Amino acid sequence: MTVPGPGAHLLVTGGAGFIGSCFVRDLLARRDGTRITVLDKLTYAGNRANLAAAEGDPEAAARLTFVRGDIADPGVVDPLVVAADAVVNFAAESHVDRSILDPAAFLRTGVDGVYVLLEAVRRETERAAGGERDRAPRMVQVSTDEVYGSVAEGWSVETDAVAPRSPYAAAKAAGELLASAYHVTYGLDVVITRGSNTYGPFHHPEKLIPLFVTNALDDLPLPLYGDGGQRRDWLHVSDHAAAIAHVLFHGSAGETYNIPGSAERENRDVVARILALLDKPWSLVRSVADRPGHDRRYAMDGTRLTALGWTNRVEFDEGLAATVAWYREHEEWWRAARGGDWDAYYARQYAVRLATSATADGPTEGG
Ligand code: NAD
Ligand code: TYD
Repeated sequence: MTVPGPGAHLLVTGGAGFIGSCFVRDLLARRDGTRITVLDKLTYAGNRANLAAAEGDPEAAARLTFVRGDIADPGVVDPLVVAADAVVNFAAESHVDRSILDPAAFLRTGVDGVYVLLEAVRRETERAAGGERDRAPRMVQVSTDEVYGSVAEGWSVETDAVAPRSPYAAAKAAGELLASAYHVTYGLDVVITRGSNTYGPFHHPEKLIPLFVTNALDDLPLPLYGDGGQRRDWLHVSDHAAAIAHVLFHGSAGETYNIPGSAERENRDVVARILALLDKPWSLVRSVADRPGHDRRYAMDGTRLTALGWTNRVEFDEGLAATVAWYREHEEWWRAARGGDWDAYYARQYAVRLATSATADGPTEGG
């Protein structure tokens, strides 16, 4: 089975979101002839402005097409897959807290949407087998370390059982299990990536790092869940996007690849570093009621991806400092991203928590 290479035509679903738009911008900036069609529903998290750098560059713009639509709609998806050499699926509802408040959209996109994409790829795989097209399209299903559930000690390897614990993680696990089943049953050329917690520019301000940076810039309280002792392994968005491209071009069909960040930190320590970078006091931090079912720790082993030839480039302290600087310099972007249902969501998620909050214990490593 041949894999797509530079110059291919890619269908990038969810390409107006945080990681998908970085993938699109960075791949087009390689100037290797790759053509990209972005299919994005433009939910509250999708933002056409995330693609402005590519759309404003005539050479890149000539290789980029934007289609607004839903991956769960076969009428939109089918013709786009006919024209694609590969599908890279970033589209998902991506926020754990919203999945706890309202899981329906997570299942619609994460399960039905993935099914619609797989069916379209299946038809094209059959056409390739019948000699009606050169090569079956490859599909990359972008998944997450959260499918492993909370990892008390050690590091998850790709062969570990999945044990998702939030509606978000369960929808992601369902999507990737469907993708693997289509590989086994119908011979689809599927590869799966499991990325760890990602940070960087264009990250929606609902997530920990951008929420705390933007609230701190406004001198608003920073709602730290529970004792803040949860651990995440932080991966810069440019490394995550490049690792996905590496798996697209070099991964083996049917295989799953962890993409760790190799920067495991306690939330409290991340928050302390953000405050230090902004010269803001720890007194902004409030200890609030915990997220139900909050996973204590994620940590993955990256041996398989290293063996495939990929190594991350961005070191966490430098990446975080650059990210904080980006938010300082792009106030217009993040204020606009706090549009739509932001005020209602923020009140639902945080009003009672903040009203009943307590002083938070300081960081363990002095930030
Ligand atoms: P995001 O929420 O910023 O972007 C998701 C994008 O998908 C948005 O542009 C949205 O408009 C679009 N979308 C949502 N539903 C759609 C639908 N039905 N049809 C078409 N488009 C739709 O998310 P992100 O952080 O960029 O995450 C991208 C992918 O990476 C997701 O699959 C997520 O599960 C996965 N992932 C994220 C992280 C992380 O830390 N952010 C880590 C590992 C894996
Ligand atoms: P988040 O950015 O939502 O990513 P994920 O749930 O995918 O790991 O959260 C990262 C960590 O930060 C997680 O342990 C939950 C915590 N957190 C808070 O303490 N307060 C908040 O307001 C948010 C959004 C997250």
